[in-house]
Amino acid sequence: MTEKILVCTAWPYANGDLHIGHLAGAYLPPDIFARYHRLRGNNVLMVSGSDSHGTPITLKADAEGVSPVEVFERYHLRFLQTFQDIGVTYNLFTHTDTENHAKVAQDIFAACLENGFIYNHTEQQFYSETEGRFLPDRYIEGTCPKCGFDGARGDQCDNCKSLLDPTDLINPRSKNDGSTPVLRETEHFYLDLQKLNEDVLDYLSTGKEHWRPNVINFSLQYAKDGLKGRAITRDIEWGIPLPLSGYEDKRLYVWFEAVIGYFSASVEYAANVGQPELWKEWWYDPAAKTYYFIGKDNIPFHTVIWPAELMATGRRLYETDPNKQLNLPYDVPANEYLNMEGEKLSTSRNWAIWAPDLLERYDPDPIRFYLNAIAPESRDTDFTFEGFIRRNNDELVATWGNLVNRVLGFAYKRYNGKVPEIGPAGLDDADRQIIAEVEAGFQSVGDLLAAVKLKAAQEEAMRLAKAANVYLDGKAPWKAIKDDPVAAGTSVYVALRVIDNLKILFAPFLPHTCQKLHEYLGYDGQLFGRQYVEEFTETERVHKALCYDGSLAVGRWEASQLQPGQSLRKPAPLFKKLEPELAAQEIARLTQG
Ligand code: MF3
Ligand code: ZN
Repeated sequence: MTEKILVCTAWPYANGDLHIGHLAGAYLPPDIFARYHRLRGNNVLMVSGSDSHGTPITLKADAEGVSPVEVFERYHLRFLQTFQDIGVTYNLFTHTDTENHAKVAQDIFAACLENGFIYNHTEQQFYSETEGRFLPDRYIEGTCPKCGFDGARGDQCDNCKSLLDPTDLINPRSKNDGSTPVLRETEHFYLDLQKLNEDVLDYLSTGKEHWRPNVINFSLQYAKDGLKGRAITRDIEWGIPLPLSGYEDKRLYVWFEAVIGYFSASVEYAANVGQPELWKEWWYDPAAKTYYFIGKDNIPFHTVIWPAELMATGRRLYETDPNKQLNLPYDVPANEYLNMEGEKLSTSRNWAIWAPDLLERYDPDPIRFYLNAIAPESRDTDFTFEGFIRRNNDELVATWGNLVNRVLGFAYKRYNGKVPEIGPAGLDDADRQIIAEVEAGFQSVGDLLAAVKLKAAQEEAMRLAKAANVYLDGKAPWKAIKDDPVAAGTSVYVALRVIDNLKILFAPFLPHTCQKLHEYLGYDGQLFGRQYVEEFTETERVHKALCYDGSLAVGRWEASQLQPGQSLRKPAPLFKKLEPELAAQEIARLTQG
């Protein structure tokens, strides 16, 4: 049965390049997952985009003395390049400064208001007398009331992950000039989370056995502690206006509207492909599964706030059938953090490896492989160059690459560039056993991938490559060919077929090299679809988005049917050995800044 799978990934703030922490935590896992489901023939929609609003953008713009548009457009284009280079295959990677997104966000606001889940309220907020304006949450710092951490921001404490209101902070100060802000009255709109508390608890308490323990425990505790109304408007210029007159100076709060991006991007995708109702396949079919790949700091927004927003719309938008309901998140496989060389990544201290920089010097597949091998699925993990080099050399080069090289090189040279025939004796036990063992990988690797255990899935595929090497060493066709070229040909056939299977098992993790291997094996066509940047024109603006077209993809999550006699293409090594000395050089580069 074809499944409908919606793959959502966090919307990166377009205020700086992506680094390895972003890739390992939020962007590579969904790509591995989406590619697997595409190979399975499932109906995958993978969406996200640049988060173009919010104070992370305006802070950067202020610092550079440029407009927020300039900042977000610059980094948005760089995201498109990074995702193409590393092969993160969004069906649509758009951004939140589109007319479509603004309209959908306003419609959701209006629906929540109409249903009585938004109230307005005048309250005291921090105002900077030195700057003459209300200060956005992130412009205020102070001590966290929950854990005592002194660098808490007005919206969130990075130390204990609590969502905060700026007035919760002890000893608040302006991030711009250190001055103490004063409280002034302002009217704002609030999402009535208190009214939705029971429903959110019900949602989190039913059928969540497949959720990662840290995600469900944190979310349940958060909802049990009691939800209170949250302001969803701000006194700022950069953002989406309210769909109400009389509030021209206010904008929707970035977190209220950014999560709406999952929905608006699905709507935009459907319009782009000329089937404006297509998004409903993933949003209204109760059998569709919706996954949200994020870092742990975003958990409450995806497991509590976003479900609450959907509930506040009555779980219905752009749909008249009263029996239909918008799908709530099926799974939120949030990751912990990736550290580097034993220390927390930090943009301000420049302790990070930026994706564009890394991709200039290394091929995408070894980066994907290592970042998945150390994915922080259940605890914080550590990126080290020593580890990157070692795992590249031991696993990609010495295990999987070596298997491919030995077999393909030998077959190409000694069997006239063709897949050899099976001898009249047929297959022996060892032959049948290795084929069966590797074919069982379609189940074992597949089950792990479907359960979002991506690290274990990759390990399982590598285990099978090791078994294939053991088989090959046992048969040693390069020796056997002297006495019995027919029997040697049979083992080479078996090894090629095993490699053809492993090509598919590895493809979600290593799509670029598996494509090459596919061609060396003599096949045509692309295992996966085509990734490209397209320009879309709205009323006034043109925007660029990353797209993916899988209609011609030939990859299938199925056992190899490799036929003797198939012509091979001249092979070349899939992976390069990296010299261990590189580690010291890379670390020196980092500390030089
Ligand atoms: N821009 C936010 C961040 O980088 C994430 C937003 S995820 C979304 O932390 F769902 F709200 F879009
Ligand atoms: Zn705290």
